[in-house]
Amino acid sequence: MSLAIIGGTGLSKLDGFVPAGEEAVSTRWGAPSAPLRRGRYHGREVIFLPRHGDAHQLPPHRINYRANLQALYDAGVQEIIAVAAVGNITDAFRPGTLAVPDQIIDYTWGREHTFAGPDAVMHVDFTRPYSETLRQRLLAAARRVGAEVLDGGTYGCTQGPRLETAAEVDRLERDGCAMIGMTGMPEAALARELDMACACLAVSVNQAAGRGAQDGDIHAEIEASLARGMA
Ligand code: HPA
Repeated sequence: MSLAIIGGTGLSKLDGFVPAGEEAVSTRWGAPSAPLRRGRYHGREVIFLPRHGDAHQLPPHRINYRANLQALYDAGVQEIIAVAAVGNITDAFRPGTLAVPDQIIDYTWGREHTFAGPDAVMHVDFTRPYSETLRQRLLAAARRVGAEVLDGGTYGCTQGPRLETAAEVDRLERDGCAMIGMTGMPEAALARELDMACACLAVSVNQAAGRGAQDGDIHAEIEASLARGMA
Protein backbone atom coordinates (compact mmCIF):
# COMPACT_ATOMS: atom_id res chain seq x y z
CA MET A 1 0.00 0.00 0.00
CA SER A 2 1.42 3.32 -0.95
CA LEU A 3 1.01 5.82 1.88
CA ALA A 4 0.96 9.60 1.87
CA ILE A 5 1.12 12.04 4.73
CA ILE A 6 -0.48 15.41 4.15
CA GLY A 7 1.03 17.87 6.62
CA GLY A 8 -0.97 20.77 8.01
CA THR A 9 -0.17 23.92 9.91
CA GLY A 10 2.96 23.30 11.96
CA LEU A 11 3.94 20.34 9.83
CA SER A 12 5.49 21.68 6.65
CA LYS A 13 8.38 19.27 7.16
CA LEU A 14 8.58 15.84 8.74
CA ASP A 15 11.40 15.59 11.26
CA GLY A 16 13.34 12.42 10.58
CA PHE A 17 12.11 12.10 7.00
CA VAL A 18 14.83 10.64 4.76
CA PRO A 19 14.21 12.12 1.31
CA ALA A 20 14.60 9.97 -1.78
CA GLY A 21 13.58 12.51 -4.39
CA GLU A 22 10.96 15.07 -5.13
CA GLU A 23 8.76 15.62 -8.12
CA ALA A 24 7.08 18.85 -9.19
CA VAL A 25 3.96 17.44 -10.81
CA SER A 26 0.96 18.98 -12.44
CA THR A 27 -2.54 17.61 -12.86
CA ARG A 28 -5.56 18.51 -14.95
CA TRP A 29 -6.66 20.59 -11.95
CA GLY A 30 -3.37 22.46 -11.67
CA ALA A 31 -0.35 22.03 -9.43
CA PRO A 32 -0.49 20.61 -5.91
CA SER A 33 0.54 22.74 -2.93
CA ALA A 34 4.18 21.62 -3.25
CA PRO A 35 6.31 19.04 -5.04
CA LEU A 36 5.60 15.47 -3.95
CA ARG A 37 8.39 14.30 -1.69
CA ARG A 38 9.18 10.60 -1.64
CA GLY A 39 11.23 9.16 1.14
CA ARG A 40 11.36 7.01 4.22
CA TYR A 41 9.83 7.92 7.52
CA HIS A 42 10.64 5.61 10.42
CA GLY A 43 11.53 2.90 7.92
CA ARG A 44 8.33 3.21 5.95
CA GLU A 45 8.09 4.55 2.42
CA VAL A 46 5.87 7.59 2.27
CA ILE A 47 5.04 10.53 0.09
CA PHE A 48 4.86 13.81 1.98
CA LEU A 49 2.86 16.81 0.85
CA PRO A 50 2.53 20.02 2.90
CA ARG A 51 -1.07 21.15 2.37
CA HIS A 52 -0.37 24.85 2.84
CA GLY A 53 2.74 24.84 0.63
CA ASP A 54 6.43 24.85 1.55
CA ALA A 55 6.30 28.39 2.90
CA HIS A 56 2.85 27.93 4.45
CA GLN A 57 1.64 30.42 1.85
CA LEU A 58 -1.79 28.91 1.07
CA PRO A 59 -4.72 29.69 3.39
CA PRO A 60 -7.32 26.92 3.78
CA HIS A 61 -9.78 28.35 1.23
CA ARG A 62 -7.05 28.80 -1.41
CA ILE A 63 -5.64 25.30 -1.30
CA ASN A 64 -6.11 23.41 -4.56
CA TYR A 65 -7.51 20.28 -2.91
CA ARG A 66 -8.33 18.66 -6.24
CA ALA A 67 -4.75 19.04 -7.48
CA ASN A 68 -3.38 17.67 -4.19
CA LEU A 69 -5.57 14.59 -4.22
CA GLN A 70 -5.19 13.98 -7.95
CA ALA A 71 -1.39 14.27 -7.70
CA LEU A 72 -1.30 11.73 -4.88
CA TYR A 73 -3.62 9.42 -6.79
CA ASP A 74 -1.50 9.68 -9.93
CA ALA A 75 1.56 8.82 -7.81
CA GLY A 76 -0.12 5.56 -6.82
CA VAL A 77 -1.12 6.55 -3.29
CA GLN A 78 -3.83 4.38 -1.76
CA GLU A 79 -3.77 5.57 1.84
CA ILE A 80 -3.62 9.08 3.24
CA ILE A 81 -2.92 10.28 6.74
CA ALA A 82 -4.21 13.85 6.82
CA VAL A 83 -2.56 15.67 9.70
CA ALA A 84 -4.56 18.70 10.76
CA ALA A 85 -4.31 21.35 13.46
CA VAL A 86 -7.69 21.83 15.13
CA GLY A 87 -9.32 23.72 17.94
CA ASN A 88 -10.96 21.39 20.43
CA ILE A 89 -14.55 22.00 21.48
CA THR A 90 -14.90 18.95 23.67
CA ASP A 91 -12.85 18.66 26.85
CA ALA A 92 -12.23 15.03 25.95
CA PHE A 93 -8.97 16.17 24.42
CA ARG A 94 -6.96 19.32 24.87
CA PRO A 95 -4.25 21.43 23.27
CA GLY A 96 -1.09 19.49 22.56
CA THR A 97 -2.89 16.14 22.29
CA LEU A 98 -4.39 14.11 19.45
CA ALA A 99 -7.70 12.91 18.13
CA VAL A 100 -8.64 10.59 15.28
CA PRO A 101 -12.09 11.83 14.29
CA ASP A 102 -14.67 9.48 12.82
CA GLN A 103 -17.16 11.98 11.39
CA ILE A 104 -17.24 15.30 9.55
CA ILE A 105 -19.66 18.18 9.17
CA ASP A 106 -18.79 20.46 6.28
CA TYR A 107 -19.44 24.20 6.80
CA THR A 108 -17.24 25.35 3.93
CA TRP A 109 -18.54 27.09 0.83
CA GLY A 110 -17.28 28.04 -2.59
CA ARG A 111 -14.49 25.49 -2.67
CA GLU A 112 -13.93 23.19 -5.64
CA HIS A 113 -15.25 20.15 -3.85
CA THR A 114 -15.69 17.41 -6.46
CA PHE A 115 -13.97 15.85 -9.44
CA ALA A 116 -17.35 15.39 -11.07
CA GLY A 117 -18.07 17.60 -14.05
CA PRO A 118 -21.18 19.78 -14.30
CA ASP A 119 -23.13 17.07 -16.12
CA ALA A 120 -22.02 14.11 -14.06
CA VAL A 121 -24.33 12.62 -11.47
CA MET A 122 -22.15 10.96 -8.88
CA HIS A 123 -23.46 9.90 -5.47
CA VAL A 124 -20.43 8.81 -3.52
CA ASP A 125 -21.13 7.00 -0.25
CA PHE A 126 -19.71 9.18 2.51
CA THR A 127 -21.64 7.75 5.47
CA ARG A 128 -18.33 6.93 7.14
CA PRO A 129 -16.02 9.63 5.80
CA TYR A 130 -12.79 8.10 7.09
CA SER A 131 -11.25 4.69 6.59
CA GLU A 132 -11.90 2.71 9.76
CA THR A 133 -8.89 0.47 9.09
CA LEU A 134 -6.56 3.43 8.84
CA ARG A 135 -8.18 5.08 11.86
CA GLN A 136 -7.53 1.98 13.97
CA ARG A 137 -3.92 1.81 12.80
CA LEU A 138 -3.41 5.46 13.74
CA LEU A 139 -4.95 4.89 17.17
CA ALA A 140 -2.80 1.82 17.77
CA ALA A 141 0.33 3.68 16.66
CA ALA A 142 -0.47 6.64 18.90
CA ARG A 143 -0.99 4.38 21.89
CA ARG A 144 2.19 2.47 21.13
CA VAL A 145 4.23 5.65 21.54
CA GLY A 146 2.26 6.71 24.61
CA ALA A 147 0.57 9.68 22.94
CA GLU A 148 -2.70 10.88 24.43
CA VAL A 149 -5.30 10.30 21.72
CA LEU A 150 -9.08 10.61 21.53
CA ASP A 151 -10.82 7.91 19.51
CA GLY A 152 -13.52 9.46 17.36
CA GLY A 153 -15.41 12.73 17.38
CA THR A 154 -16.90 14.91 14.68
CA TYR A 155 -14.60 17.28 12.82
CA GLY A 156 -16.43 20.49 11.89
CA CYS A 157 -14.77 22.07 8.87
CA THR A 158 -15.19 25.86 8.76
CA GLN A 159 -14.33 28.12 5.88
CA GLY A 160 -11.73 30.32 7.54
CA PRO A 161 -9.34 31.91 7.27
CA ARG A 162 -10.64 33.70 10.34
CA LEU A 163 -11.29 31.80 13.54
CA GLU A 164 -14.86 31.41 14.79
CA THR A 165 -17.01 33.56 17.02
CA ALA A 166 -17.96 32.15 20.40
CA ALA A 167 -21.56 31.83 19.18
CA GLU A 168 -20.43 29.88 16.14
CA VAL A 169 -18.57 27.49 18.40
CA ASP A 170 -21.74 27.09 20.51
CA ARG A 171 -23.60 26.20 17.34
CA LEU A 172 -20.93 23.75 16.24
CA GLU A 173 -21.14 22.11 19.65
CA ARG A 174 -24.93 21.84 19.39
CA ASP A 175 -24.37 20.22 16.02
CA GLY A 176 -22.21 17.62 17.74
CA CYS A 177 -18.75 18.76 16.65
CA ALA A 178 -15.87 17.80 18.92
CA MET A 179 -13.26 19.82 17.05
CA ILE A 180 -12.92 22.52 14.40
CA GLY A 181 -10.50 22.83 11.53
CA MET A 182 -10.50 24.49 8.13
CA THR A 183 -8.96 21.92 5.79
CA GLY A 184 -10.66 18.57 6.36
CA MET A 185 -13.09 19.27 3.53
CA PRO A 186 -13.22 18.83 0.63
CA GLU A 187 -10.00 16.86 1.17
CA ALA A 188 -11.64 13.77 2.67
CA ALA A 189 -14.49 13.74 0.14
CA LEU A 190 -12.11 14.05 -2.80
CA ALA A 191 -10.06 11.14 -1.42
CA ARG A 192 -13.27 9.12 -1.28
CA GLU A 193 -14.18 10.02 -4.85
CA LEU A 194 -10.83 8.57 -5.90
CA ASP A 195 -11.31 5.54 -3.65
CA MET A 196 -8.28 6.36 -1.52
CA ALA A 197 -8.44 5.46 2.18
CA CYS A 198 -8.12 8.56 4.31
CA ALA A 199 -7.89 9.19 8.04
CA CYS A 200 -7.31 12.42 9.91
CA LEU A 201 -4.76 12.79 12.66
CA ALA A 202 -6.05 15.89 14.41
CA VAL A 203 -3.76 17.82 16.71
CA SER A 204 -5.45 20.25 19.04
CA VAL A 205 -3.55 23.51 19.12
CA ASN A 206 -6.15 25.57 21.00
CA GLN A 207 -9.45 25.45 22.75
CA ALA A 208 -12.12 26.70 20.38
CA ALA A 209 -13.07 30.37 20.55
CA GLY A 210 -14.86 31.41 23.71
CA ARG A 211 -13.80 28.26 25.55
CA GLY A 212 -11.38 27.83 28.40
CA ALA A 213 -9.32 30.54 30.01
CA GLN A 214 -7.62 31.87 26.91
CA ASP A 215 -8.88 35.42 27.54
CA GLY A 216 -9.03 36.28 23.89
CA ASP A 217 -5.41 35.34 23.21
CA ILE A 218 -6.04 32.33 21.06
CA HIS A 219 -2.84 32.93 19.06
CA ALA A 220 -0.63 32.62 22.11
CA GLU A 221 -2.27 29.30 22.85
CA ILE A 222 -1.79 28.10 19.27
CA GLU A 223 1.89 29.08 19.34
CA ALA A 224 2.40 27.31 22.62
CA SER A 225 0.70 24.05 21.59
CA LEU A 226 1.59 23.71 17.92
CA ALA A 227 5.17 22.45 18.13
CA ARG A 228 4.40 20.21 21.09
CA GLY A 229 1.37 18.65 19.43
CA MET A 230 2.99 18.15 16.06
CA ALA A 231 6.05 16.52 17.63
N1 HPA B 1 -10.89 26.85 14.47
C1 HPA B 1 -10.74 26.50 13.18
N2 HPA B 1 -9.61 25.97 12.70
C2 HPA B 1 -8.59 25.79 13.55
C3 HPA B 1 -8.68 26.15 14.91
C4 HPA B 1 -9.89 26.70 15.39
O1 HPA B 1 -10.05 27.04 16.58
N3 HPA B 1 -7.48 25.85 15.47
C5 HPA B 1 -6.71 25.33 14.48
N4 HPA B 1 -7.37 25.30 13.32
